[in-house]
Amino acid sequence: MAESTPQAAEPHRAQWKTQWGFLSAAIGSAIGLGSIWRFPYVVYENGGGAYLIPYFVALVTAGIPLMILEYGIGHKMRGSAPMSFAKINPHWEWLGWWMVIFVMIGIELDYSVGIAWCVSYMWFSLTLAWGADPNGFFFQQFLGVTAGPHVIGDIRSPILLSLILVWVLNWLTVFFGVEQGIEKANKVFMPLLFVLILILVGWTATLPGSKEGIVRYLKPDFSRLGDPKVWIDAYSQIFFTLSLGFGIMVTYASYLPRKADINFNACVTSLVDTLVSLVAGLAVFGTLGYMAAQTSKPFAETVQHGIGLAFVAYPQAISLLPSLPALFGVLFFLTLTIAGIASSISILEAFSAAMIDKFHYSRKSVVTLLSVLGFLGGIIFTTGGGLAWLDIVDHFLSHYGLFIACILQCALLWVYGAPRLREHVDSVSLFRVGRLFDFSIKYLIPAILIVLLLNDLMTDIRRPYGGYPW
Ligand code: PFF
Repeated sequence: MAESTPQAAEPHRAQWKTQWGFLSAAIGSAIGLGSIWRFPYVVYENGGGAYLIPYFVALVTAGIPLMILEYGIGHKMRGSAPMSFAKINPHWEWLGWWMVIFVMIGIELDYSVGIAWCVSYMWFSLTLAWGADPNGFFFQQFLGVTAGPHVIGDIRSPILLSLILVWVLNWLTVFFGVEQGIEKANKVFMPLLFVLILILVGWTATLPGSKEGIVRYLKPDFSRLGDPKVWIDAYSQIFFTLSLGFGIMVTYASYLPRKADINFNACVTSLVDTLVSLVAGLAVFGTLGYMAAQTSKPFAETVQHGIGLAFVAYPQAISLLPSLPALFGVLFFLTLTIAGIASSISILEAFSAAMIDKFHYSRKSVVTLLSVLGFLGGIIFTTGGGLAWLDIVDHFLSHYGLFIACILQCALLWVYGAPRLREHVDSVSLFRVGRLFDFSIKYLIPAILIVLLLNDLMTDIRRPYGGYPW
C-alpha cells in the first residue's frame, strides 16, 4: 500500500517555476523568528566573532550534509517525507509522519502565536502603547500571565485576533499551491525581508552608542572556544535554524525539476540563512547599544534574547528613539512577522503535502482543514497560561523531537545507502560532495546528535526544566 500510493501520485506533482522560487521558499523557511531574536544573542553569549568558528564547523559538518540529504531524498523520491521514506522502505513511512506531525504540533501551533504577538506589536507601535513600562505591558496587560500552566486564565483577544490573521495568511498562501501560492509569496517576502533588515541596520547605525553595541556583539573572545557548551550551542542551533528534521526540506525539494543542482542549493540556503541572521544581529545589537547609552546602564544589563528582546527591550529602545519611533517599531515587527510567516507556511505545506500524497485529498480541502485545526489548537497559547504552555511545548517537543527525528533520518540512510544518495546528488550537481558526505551522515551527525540529546536529558534530569514536568 505504502508503495503503490506514491507511484499513483507521481504524474501530478507540482513544480517550482524557477530556481529562485525554490530557493526563496527554502530560505524563507530557514530564516525565522529564531534567526532574529535568538541567533545574535547566541553569538554574543558564546564568544562573539569567535563563535562563528564553531558555527561554521557545525554548518559544514552537519547542517549542509543534512540539508543535502533532505534535498536529495525529496528530489530523488519526489514525495513529501512519509511518501519519500516509504519509497525507500515501506517500514519507514512512519518516520515521515512522525516528523510532519511533530512539527505541526510541537512548532507550528506555538510559532504562529509568536508571529501573532509580532502582528499585535506592529499595531501597538503606532501609538507606542507599552508606555513607560514595556515589561508590565507585555507580561501583565498583553499576555495576562497566570500563576502557571495549571491556571489557564482567559483568552487574550488581541492575540486571538492576530492569530486569526496569521492563520488566514498561512492558509491563503498554501491553499494556492506550490507555484501560485508559496513561490509567489516568497518571491515577495524574501526581497522585502532583506530590504527591511538593511533599513533597520542603516537606521540603527545612525544612533549614538550603536557602534558600541555592535562591537560587543562581534568582538571575538577566542578563549570561549575551549568551552564544550559553545560547541553544543552551535550544533543545536544549526538544525533548528535550517528547518531540518521535520520533512520540510524533503517536501520542498520534491517539487524541483529533474535537473536541479542539489549541492549548490543546499549551500546557498545555509549560507544565506547565516548571513541574514548575522546582519540582523547588527540591527539588534546596534539598538541595544543605543539603549545602553541612553539609559546609562551597563551594556550587559540591556542585553536580552527571545521574547524579552523583542517585546521588552526593543519597545523600550523604540520609545527612546529621537525620530519616527512608530515607524521604526512597525518596520521591526513587520520584519519579524514576514520572517515568521515564511517559516510557518513551510510547516503547513510539509503536513499538507503528506496528506495529499497519501490520501489524494484535494489541496484546497486539506489546507483549509489543517488551517482551521491549527488555529483552534493554537488557542491554548493565547490564554493567560499560554506562555507557560508555549515554554513547555517548545522545550520538550521541539527539542527532543528534532534531535530524535534527525538521528532516525540518518539511520534511514543506513538502509538506503549513503553512497547511493551521494551518487544521485552528485549526478545532478556541479560540485561533488565526495565520500566525506557518507562519513558525516552515517557516523558524525548521529554521534553529535546523541551527545546533544544526552546533554539535554542530563540537564533536564539534574535540574527539571522550570520545574516541569514535576
Ligand atoms: N528555521 C526557523 C527559525 O529559525 O525560526 C524555525 C523553523 C521553521 C524550525 C520550520 C523548524 C521548522 F520546521
